This record gives sequence, structure tokens and C-alpha cells, in this order.
Amino acid sequence: MIPKARLNEALTQLFDSLEFTHEPAGLYDPLRYMIAIGGKRLRPRLALLTYSLYQDSLTDDILQPAAALEVFHNYTLIHDDVMDRSDLRRGVPTVWKKWDLNTAILSGDAMFVDSFRRMASLPAGVLREGLEMFCNTAAQVMEGQQYDVEFERRRDVTREEYMEMIGLKTGVLLACASKLGALVGGASQEDCDNLYEYGYNLGLAFQVTDDYLDEYGDEQVFGKPIGGDIVCGKQNWLAVHARQKADPAQREALDRAFDLPAGTPEEKQAKISAVMALYQELGVEEDAKYEILHLNEKALSFAAKACSGLRLERLRRFAEKLVGRSK
Ligand code: IPE
Ligand code: IPE
Ligand code: MG
Ligand code: MG
Ligand code: MG
Repeated sequence: MIPKARLNEALTQLFDSLEFTHEPAGLYDPLRYMIAIGGKRLRPRLALLTYSLYQDSLTDDILQPAAALEVFHNYTLIHDDVMDRSDLRRGVPTVWKKWDLNTAILSGDAMFVDSFRRMASLPAGVLREGLEMFCNTAAQVMEGQQYDVEFERRRDVTREEYMEMIGLKTGVLLACASKLGALVGGASQEDCDNLYEYGYNLGLAFQVTDDYLDEYGDEQVFGKPIGGDIVCGKQNWLAVHARQKADPAQREALDRAFDLPAGTPEEKQAKISAVMALYQELGVEEDAKYEILHLNEKALSFAAKACSGLRLERLRRFAEKLVGRSK
């Protein structure tokens, strides 16, 4: 097993050395910007982690594919911020706000291509399987994002539909990261499959946590505007759960609150307060915390099928950090 400190050091080096040196600057500056403002880099971290369960040293076999996951993730964020009309990411202006819409589209596309170029450097023995998984994952993320946007126009989204949607937009990329590390590390097919499920369920827990922090987080720490999902009528976990738990009168009140205008800053605040008051009445905050723990446990049950002892402990700690996060 590779020491944890070595993984952290490798991740820092990897992203410090990531260069987008081509011209024109108008196309590549936003890529440099996104990588420079960092983020948690969870997906490459997870890939290195599962790889480290099977190998004793790090090589480019896993480092470039791990970087591909993060570059792809950043591409999805650039486009997601356009789709969600978000002004702030990681505490700084989003690409479409800092530059413009056309820049966000094209620079996002450039990042998408860059991620595939990096993934194509997988070692020959796993290239076909790894690339195929990455292609499927990328397509699924887009399907999830499309459902997410379509759900904004609906008020009858069920918990099952919601879980399927977040499985696509968020779960599969963590699943892909988790399995990729194992695959390159030489794990058995069975371990690869169990680690895929570990990552997938962790991804679900991660997205419900993101939804929770969207309403109950601290903007300074979370780096995204609090209440953003309410303002754009997003059917996140809290909204879907509140609606299913509500009695008819509370459901009507929820509809009225979500129908409030949100043009000015004052209107936004009033809308957020109205929805949050109903969440409070329904006990949604506690329910979300319970759901996150439940999904986390499910993830760990798959991890326990792939490994034990110190290795399992590593996967447990990674999961614990994700669900206990505040950013
Ligand atoms: C944000 O992902 C998008 C979601 C899937 C919820 P992260 O929370 O991993 O974002 P960064 O990369 O750390 O900023
Ligand atoms: C993002 O979900 C999922 C992807 C980017 C694929 P969100 O829209 O909830 O992510 P944030 O909150 O903007 O980071
Ligand atoms: Mg979104
Ligand atoms: Mg968003
Ligand atoms: Mg969110």
C-alpha cells in the first residue's frame, strides 16, 4: 500500500504541473483558471486511493488517467454553472460570469477533449476497458444533467427518479474513479465491480450532501451561494423529500413558496426563507443527514467485499470525510 502522504504529494505535483499552454489565450485561460482555483480534487484522489490498495508505487499509468477525471469534472462544472445560472464557484466568479457564455461553451469543450486525451494514455492492457468505461460515464453524466434540468419544470419528481438522476450526474463519475484505480492497479474483476459500487453509492451520498449544503452550508466555506437550488427551482433532495413528506396543505404552501419571484436580491432572500421555513416545519434537515449516513453505509458494505483491515479503513476514512464535509 502506498503511504497516504505520498498520495497527497503526488496529487499536488500533478495539478501544479498540469499545463494548458496552447493559444489562443481566450480559449485556454478559463482552463488554467479552473485548475488554479482548485477544488477538493476528490475524483483523482479516489482513483489514486483504490490504485494504492493494489500497488506500492505511483506511476504515470494512473497519474494521467486520474488527472483526466479531474479535468472532465471541471468541464462539467463550467457548463453546469451556465445551466444553473450560478455566479460563484469555489468562492470566485464562474467562467461564464468572469468571461461570457461563448467562452464557457468553447473552453468547456476544450477541457472535455483534454480529458479524453489524458485518459487515452492508459496502459495498453487496460486501455480498451478503461476508455470504454470513461465514454459511458461521460454520456451518463450528460443524461443526468439533462434530467436535472428537466426536473426544474416539474413538481412531481419522485425520490426514485431523483436518485436515478443523481446517480447519473454525480454517482457514475465517482464510481468510474474508484474502479479505474483498481483496474489499473491490477485488481480482480470482482474487486473492480465492488469498488465501482462503493464509488457509486459514495457519489449518491456526496450529491445529497451537496444539496444539503446548498441550503444549510456556510457560503464562505462552501464557496457557492446558499439557497441557489431554491432560487432556480431545482428539485434537489430536500425539495423532493419535503414534497413527498408534506400533507396536502403543506404541499400547497411549498408550491406557493417555489412559485415566488426571485428577480431581485430581496426577492431571492424572501423565496429562500419561505421554502426553508417549510423545510424546518417538516424536519427535512435531519432527514437529509440520515439519508447521507445510510448511503454512506451502503457504500462501505461494497468496500468491505473488496478489502479488509487497513485497506478497508482507508476507504472508510475517505467516505467519512466526504459525508462530514462543509465544503
Ligand atoms: C461539485 O463537485 C459538483 C457536484 C457533483 C456536487 P465538487 O464538490 O467535487 O466540486 P469541487 O471540485 O470540489 O469544487
Ligand atoms: C452538479 O450538480 C453535477 C455536475 C456538475 C455533473 P450541482 O449543480 O448540484 O453542482 P453544484 O452545486 O453547482 O456544484
Ligand atoms: Mg447542476
Ligand atoms: Mg450547479
Ligand atoms: Mg449543488
